[in-house]
Amino acid sequence: MHDQRDESSNDSRADTVERREEALDVLRSNRADGYTIPSATLYPFQWNWDSAFIALGLVDVEPDAAKKELESLCAATWENGLLPHIVFHTDAEGYFPGPEEWGVEIDGTETSGITQPPMVVPAARHVYEATGDDAFLDRVYPALERHLEWWVRERSFDNSTVYVRHPWETGMDDSPAWTNPLAAFDPGDVEYEREDRKSDELADQRPTDWDYDRYVSLVREARAAEWNELELRQSCPFLVEDALTNAIFVRACDDLAALAAARGDDAAATTWREQAERSRETIRERLWNSDLETFVSYDRVGDRQLDANSVAGLASLFGEIPTNEQFEKLRRTLRDEFLSREFAVSSYVGEAFDPDRYWRGPVWINTNWLVADGLRRYGATDLADRIDRDSRRLVEREGFCEYFNPETGEGRGSDRFSWSAALYLEQTDGKRENDS
Ligand code: SER
Repeated sequence: MHDQRDESSNDSRADTVERREEALDVLRSNRADGYTIPSATLYPFQWNWDSAFIALGLVDVEPDAAKKELESLCAATWENGLLPHIVFHTDAEGYFPGPEEWGVEIDGTETSGITQPPMVVPAARHVYEATGDDAFLDRVYPALERHLEWWVRERSFDNSTVYVRHPWETGMDDSPAWTNPLAAFDPGDVEYEREDRKSDELADQRPTDWDYDRYVSLVREARAAEWNELELRQSCPFLVEDALTNAIFVRACDDLAALAAARGDDAAATTWREQAERSRETIRERLWNSDLETFVSYDRVGDRQLDANSVAGLASLFGEIPTNEQFEKLRRTLRDEFLSREFAVSSYVGEAFDPDRYWRGPVWINTNWLVADGLRRYGATDLADRIDRDSRRLVEREGFCEYFNPETGEGRGSDRFSWSAALYLEQTDGKRENDS
């Protein structure tokens, strides 16, 4: 008997196979020597959390490339444990702020002077568990531990929550959450030339000059302080305990504990499990906002919560931060505020919502992945599946764009964006029940 359902499911499997090949093509064409650039048009170097998401997706198809991706990133860790947000392996042109703006060199390689959420640790655990390669673990573990020790030592007021000193460190550069703390200081007269607005269309999808003045001024002040974290803790006008960074940090502590246990280091495993628990306890108190019923960030300079309802609050699930009671409320927030548009999950909902501009509304594939992973940890597979489905629908319609309009689904930012391709591979590697 002719079964139409079988036929359409065969068609959709064939589409997925084809799309996976395109994803791999994007990653291979963005690959340089031991690392992958996020996008040839906008980001021509190695980015910290981009590499983590890239390795997560690559490991199933090209495990050696996934391991190299993380090893090349770990090799750029500063002596003190800072893992820079950009590693300038080459002198590629067309990016601001390039290496000369930062003036940092580590063992002959130039880097930026800020970090990004420590996604490298969850990615390393994923790659290790997928490959069982103990030698890989031995190569990366010391840098991973040094990095998390750095967060606790240099970026925490209380050994529990961690803070960032630049919006770029959160990865969610122009989130409306940062408007108030950025408005609270005067950037002065900063001169620079932006390179990210390659077309008029792109200009409308990128942060504004108002934001950029402050980004540049924060970089220049930190450089003037010679990246001295203790000094910057006193002088930096932007010190924020970001909900997303903290969620990833907590998960990173849990994952480092698992990696320590795999190496037979029970003492380190206990230390990192306890760190995760201590951080969770504080986040549950300090970052929970009972009006918005989600987690928000905390401004350490203004000593106040930053009332913005963004995907950062939902990403708390990735760190298993919400108590059961908070989870019930957060699930309501997700359903009511974030799933009402055609495509989940908007990076922000609220008055400043802009469906096309960077982190002020568009859907990003990496945050969708974090939220879906977190929802599965709480047993909410129906919601996780919905989010995964939307990620797939978006890239299947528009290609591997950097971000997407949540109302129309149109692709925004750069195309052939590496983590959109890598996470498509991760989602369709045949290990999920709803794969087809
Ligand atoms: N995301 C920032 C940029 O646009 C900083 O890494 O360059």
